Amino acid sequence: MKPFLFCAAIVLTSFGMLNSAHAESRPRANDPLWQQECGSCHVPYPPRLLSAASWNTVMDGLGSHFGSDASLDPASTKAIRRFLTSHAGTRTTERQGKALLRITETPWFVHEHSEELPAGIWKSPAVKSASNCSACHTQAAQGSFSEHEIRLPKGVSR
Ligand code: HEC
Ligand code: HEC
Repeated sequence: MKPFLFCAAIVLTSFGMLNSAHAESRPRANDPLWQQECGSCHVPYPPRLLSAASWNTVMDGLGSHFGSDASLDPASTKAIRRFLTSHAGTRTTERQGKALLRITETPWFVHEHSEELPAGIWKSPAVKSASNCSACHTQAAQGSFSEHEIRLPKGVSR
């Protein structure tokens, strides 16, 4: 192992420990049904990243969901809708009076990701789509987006 990588590994390990200690003190919103149904095609996007109005619009349109059929039975739709809206974020996600469906189109997301990253990164083969959070956020599937867990894919640099 190169010395740099060795140091990096130690740093990463200690960050990992800090993060898990932190995570325990502030539990993330979780729900097994949501995890299962909304985490099968992509990571289960955390409820806090969209407003309740946006989640309602997403849940109203599951039959034609970004080109996929993600429809669910009424009871599951209702339960997941309740979970998402009750843990929703407070930032507005409206544009011209309509609730945005995409986290990746919200001003917060664009701002958070534009300063740090070259424009071409979103279309690079390793990333494919900005919606593919786990291309860079190694713990996205667990709902964690901490800065310390970001690894840009191979061949992509800032
Ligand atoms: C059958 C597959 C499938 C299922 C199941 C599914 N989705 Fe999706 N979802 C997609 C696809 C495809 C996209 C578009 C991804 C892209 O643009 O790269 C998407 C995108 C999204 C986005 C926008 C991401 C962005 O760009 O910010 C949200 C929000 C979302 N899904 C929420 C949900 C929720 C909530 C559920 C569960 C009720 C769900 N999805 C279940 C296929 C699915
Ligand atoms: C191409 C790589 C890449 C993709 C894909 C990506 N991100 Fe990021 N994300 C970053 C980088 C780089 C930062 C900036 C970290 C910093 O401030 O130094 C960041 C920052 C964040 C932050 C703030 C972290 C903090 O603690 O400040 C959140 C939350 C976040 N991203 C969520 C998402 C979500 C949700 C998705 C998918 C819908 C996503 N990201 C997709 C690279 C990416």
